[in-house]
Amino acid sequence: MSTIDHPATIETMLSGRRPGYSLPQGFYLRSDVFEADLRLLESRWICAGHVSEVAESGDWITAELGAESAIVARGQDGVLRALANVCRHRGSRVCLEPKGSGALLTCPYHAWTFHLDGRLRSAREMPSGFDPAAHGLKPLSLKVIEGLIFVSFGDAPPHLGEAEAAVAAMMRLYDWAGARIAARRTYRVAANWKLVMENYHECYHCAPSHPEFSVLHALARPNNRTLSNEPDPETGLADFEAWTAAADGFETARVMRSALADGALTGSVDGQLLAPPMGPGGARRDGLCVFGELGLLSAFLAYADYGLIYRFIPRGVLDSEMEVIWLVAGSAEAGRDYDPERLTWLWDVTSQEDKLIIERNQAGVASRAYEPGPFSLMEPGTQAYVERYLGELANALMAGFGTGTKGGTADGL
Ligand code: FES
Ligand SMILES: [Fe+2]
Repeated sequence: MSTIDHPATIETMLSGRRPGYSLPQGFYLRSDVFEADLRLLESRWICAGHVSEVAESGDWITAELGAESAIVARGQDGVLRALANVCRHRGSRVCLEPKGSGALLTCPYHAWTFHLDGRLRSAREMPSGFDPAAHGLKPLSLKVIEGLIFVSFGDAPPHLGEAEAAVAAMMRLYDWAGARIAARRTYRVAANWKLVMENYHECYHCAPSHPEFSVLHALARPNNRTLSNEPDPETGLADFEAWTAAADGFETARVMRSALADGALTGSVDGQLLAPPMGPGGARRDGLCVFGELGLLSAFLAYADYGLIYRFIPRGVLDSEMEVIWLVAGSAEAGRDYDPERLTWLWDVTSQEDKLIIERNQAGVASRAYEPGPFSLMEPGTQAYVERYLGELANALMAGFGTGTKGGTADGL
């Protein structure tokens, strides 16, 4: 849909939006809003994967967002770096696959080769005076938090500060740094990314749409949340809800403990454990799960015996991906310690249900009969997410965005 149908500027739509209601139609349909969204999202931190995927020198993975693509590679020196996946000859993508391994990165177009740290190694038939040192792959910002790899495409990514401390405490409790990936699946959703995120942040839909999830999780019931900033005496884990706008230069994060149904220990058919406990939090088997988030597109869920990384990837105005990565203890072996089918059952069925309801939401939102509707008492998370998005979009528009690549920080973890 174009601005012909919605002639207001984004700024006018922002100022005219009714608080406590879902967004005006143009936010979900307009390509200019989507472009502005991408500029905002590119400036933030996104989860690119887990360190177990790049454990050895030469291993690399890629992560995409809009027009941007990052290579996260472990160099011969053992250091993990993020590099812009853009060849310095004429701009081709260098790495075309989600992951790979090798001593060099070779551009498929004219075969320039790069070292794993980004330095240009060879370029054929270049004129005299050509300076290889000035044509390395550009560095991007990278941060590893308890085994999770975060990258940013922004010139000046928000500080991690308290956000990092909050999610690190959650992940440390379940030893995510020592985890391994048991499974990963991508769910393609024919909807605007904001409908995907709005859906993820409320459990108003859980009872009608997720019967399997709802029998196990207190979150599916009204008035279930008892947040406390007092650390749990046994785990030291405090609930944390910052939702701090990035305008002050800090990334947002959220950590929330939530109860499972009586007797349930994890997210499984019968609530019984599916895999060996992870870390000291898993060993306690206390019937809790912990939801976490960092930035605008990365979410985490820790059970006693397995974990989930949710990577939300906007692909087009009406095209989004939800990638789900299942983590288990590093020593757990498929077949011996867990059954991959049983491990992935709950969040596979839940994600398929989410795809369906989000696509129906998009279909209705595209109609001329759509108008923003009021949030319920069970949608505070969605309301907070929407307000945060709007505030940050307004700030970003005022500031003129300002993303790009820069000399980033390499993290040796
Ligand atoms: S664009 Fe990469 S070698 Fe030409
Ligand atoms: Fe859902």
